[in-house]
Amino acid sequence: MVSTHPLWHDYPNLSQNLNQVEAVINQHIRIKNKKIEAQIRRVAENSGKMLRPVYALLCSQIGPDYDEEKAIAIAAALETLHMATLVHDDVIDEADLRRGQETLHAKKDNRYAIYAGDYLFSICFTILANHTNSVSMLEYNARSMEKVLIGELDQLESRYTSPKSIKRYLARISGKTAQLFALSCYTGAVESNASKRQTRLAYNAGHYIGMAFQIIDDILDYQANDNTLGKPAMADAKNGIYTLPLIYSYQNHATEIDALLTKQSLTSEDLHDLQALIDQADGLSKALQLAKRYTKKALSTIDKLPNGEYKAILKSITEKMLARTM
Ligand code: IPE
Ligand code: MG
Repeated sequence: MVSTHPLWHDYPNLSQNLNQVEAVINQHIRIKNKKIEAQIRRVAENSGKMLRPVYALLCSQIGPDYDEEKAIAIAAALETLHMATLVHDDVIDEADLRRGQETLHAKKDNRYAIYAGDYLFSICFTILANHTNSVSMLEYNARSMEKVLIGELDQLESRYTSPKSIKRYLARISGKTAQLFALSCYTGAVESNASKRQTRLAYNAGHYIGMAFQIIDDILDYQANDNTLGKPAMADAKNGIYTLPLIYSYQNHATEIDALLTKQSLTSEDLHDLQALIDQADGLSKALQLAKRYTKKALSTIDKLPNGEYKAILKSITEKMLARTM
């Protein structure tokens, strides 16, 4: 059995469930052409932190009708959905590295990765359709996907525009990232027959968790290098995606930042200068403050959920996410 991410080693039940999640995903990747099957399995087997399934599994214990097998299947569907978005994301960002491994489009080509991503999308819905008895759940998932994609489209469209609007940044990450976390928590809660109030709390907690998560991700993009991150660092700025640390810095250093960003493409010296400006402006610590505020909101929302072991774990991993380095 493959071991799960070190984050989960303190939680044996969770680790075991995550292995089962991986098994479910693998069972669903069945393709006659074994070469293609192997390519897609390679993506699935190089698993990441598996955060969305973790949140789905934990939130499946909110309601009175926890069903372990169903929870595992739902978690598998959500991780598959996440994987699909990553495969496509790496095509769009032209990123050659993900989780320390060569990405699918780099190994094959863009067309291959786009079909493979679509294939993973459809697997997500197959797994869900097999394990949920409510059509409304499917509709909910499809709607969530719409929000994720609208967030991505908005990000694409606002590329290379001055990093001015915090509001627009927050709306964008709410769609492209927080929605999937909210969906994971919500689906878990709904399928365990949690009350309306509890499912709403789960959804909101997931939203706050996702917002904090993406802000940290955007901080890491400036801080880390390719090795610690397992993917190319400063990819956002290079691709014209201006995130919170830069938006905060722009408030005091607009002229200098504009001078850099108007260049056709940023050299490594430009990126270095940009990093220095962000340092001067305290952009990273300001962004961290906002991530902390979202985490606080998440924790107080989780507090309102029914007591249980799952709740303590939810809180502790949500806090841990603030200090993550990958
Ligand atoms: C990466 O998500 C994509 C974002 C929404 C920032 P993760 O950091 O959870 O990716 P893995 O699954 O651990 O690789
Ligand atoms: Mg990206």
